[in-house]
Amino acid sequence: MHRARRAAAVGVLGLAAVGLAACTSGPPTPTDPVLAKGQQIYNNRCQACHGPSGEGLTAPAFYGIAERMTLEQHEAVIAQGRDGTRMPAFADSLSQDDIEAVARYEREVIGVRN
Ligand code: HEC
Repeated sequence: MHRARRAAAVGVLGLAAVGLAACTSGPPTPTDPVLAKGQQIYNNRCQACHGPSGEGLTAPAFYGIAERMTLEQHEAVIAQGRDGTRMPAFADSLSQDDIEAVARYEREVIGVRN
């Protein structure tokens, strides 16, 4: 009885782990600590709309974003959001360092993947 319950619990935990991995199946953790922090923020705050690898879900893909806007413009979108769209403003919940880290992650990691 106990054994069966434990087996069931392990099964549920295993499923949860697989689910979690599937949710954050983006690129491997970057070695640059700033980009690694950017990835963490991205996975927590951005991927639900922009996709785990920046491929775009309900929001645009990031491929080639560094050619479309400067780092300053990019950071401004994150800080202020885009009026009239679902892109939220993050100035109140992310520090300037966090905004720069996640912008760089989008430009230098997921923005250059196919
Ligand atoms: C609730 C959904 C949602 C979340 C969460 C979200 N975004 Fe967005 N984002 C959007 C949408 C929708 C757009 C497109 C806005 C438009 O039509 O101009 C967008 C646009 C952008 C753009 C401009 C892209 C371009 O090509 O013009 C950047 C940069 C961006 N988001 C970064 C982020 C970052 C960084 C985060 C997390 C800190 C984030 N977004 C979280 C929905 C979201």
